[in-house]
Amino acid sequence: MDRPGFELKMRRLWLMAALVLPFCCRGEGAAPQLPALIVFGDSTVDVGTNTYMATLVRSDFAPYGENFEGGKPTGRFTNGHMVPDYLAMKLGLPMTLPYLHPNAEGERLLHGVNFASAASGILQSTSLILNVLPAFEQLKMFHSYQAKLVNLVGQDRASSIISQAMYLVSTGTNDFILNYLINPILRQQYSLAEWSDFVASNQTEFFKQLYAAGARNMVVAGFPPIGCLPAERAILGDEGQNGCVEDLNNISIAYNERLQPALSQLQSTLPGARLLYADIYSYIHDAFYDPSQYGYSEVGRGCCGEGLFATAVFCNSASTGTCSDPSTYMFFDSLHPTEKCYKAIVDQIYYKLAPFFGLKNS
Ligand SMILES: *[C@@H]1O[C@H](CO)[C@@H](O)[C@H](O)[C@H]1NC(C)=O
Ligand SMILES: *[C@@H]1O[C@H](CO)[C@@H](O)[C@H](O)[C@H]1NC(C)=O
Repeated sequence: MDRPGFELKMRRLWLMAALVLPFCCRGEGAAPQLPALIVFGDSTVDVGTNTYMATLVRSDFAPYGENFEGGKPTGRFTNGHMVPDYLAMKLGLPMTLPYLHPNAEGERLLHGVNFASAASGILQSTSLILNVLPAFEQLKMFHSYQAKLVNLVGQDRASSIISQAMYLVSTGTNDFILNYLINPILRQQYSLAEWSDFVASNQTEFFKQLYAAGARNMVVAGFPPIGCLPAERAILGDEGQNGCVEDLNNISIAYNERLQPALSQLQSTLPGARLLYADIYSYIHDAFYDPSQYGYSEVGRGCCGEGLFATAVFCNSASTGTCSDPSTYMFFDSLHPTEKCYKAIVDQIYYKLAPFFGLKNS
């Protein structure tokens, strides 16, 4: 057999494939636009991390997940899909798995992973007693994830995945609602402005360390209107009020107003970094005050249970009053949006995200 000739042909074939493939498959719906999606944060982006931890802040039981791929509770704090899921779909990537998930290994790791942990904050002190993973602990896991990538595909390819991946970070709200706002001692010790300084400077430090670890493309969720969350309205609102708790919303507004310039500032000082602020506030606030315009029949209560105090273990199959059709609710439990709301938010974010990162606008 003519070995040298055969090898030559094979080499030509490889060369052709190498030249043609990068062009042929871009722009098709199924082709990923980025190698990976990597997620950090709290329950708004946790896809099941807490299921693998000894914490009560979990949601791996019905009615959570009742609209997720055949009604599967996965540890997502909603009825179906969430922001990281919809974002992955837009990017042509598989949905992220929790880093702690038993299937998160081998090839699965190449498309990214999710470190987010419900009830966590950017500050170490937030939810320490709830035994969840604060943001900087998640960052430590990111380093061990990178070591696994290197083992799988070698240093060069691992580095290119890390630098081209998209990073979604949603954190900080719990440093207020599960820490400062419910802790009278802290409120005596620190003014709201001082506390906001802590949260903001820790968050900035987080992005610097994420950058130092190789991340370049970051999407940063701003605060939602915390005064519109059913639980906050129930606990801190005036009796019988119909609106959101506006002084709580002011905390979100003030925080978002300092987050945006901080991200621009970081982008200008970290070479190659791109940091996009994602506005979560507007959609939820606007929909709260004009529900029918946004396709909701109920925005004041969550679907689960009586809708005001039902979240995590307090939202379960024994809860009475759970709604039969979450698709007309903005909130699924008393702290977390429904998948309908999450999907709408991703559609809105993606409209800005695509041109910002030079992606297809679909
Ligand atoms: C982070 O927050 C803590 C307060 O919890 C503060 O003492 C510390 O200085 C902050 N770190 C940075 C880098 O700002
Ligand atoms: C919220 O902030 C606005 C603008 O700064 C202010 O006019 C309003 O009084 C504040 N509302 C509450 C309830 O603190």
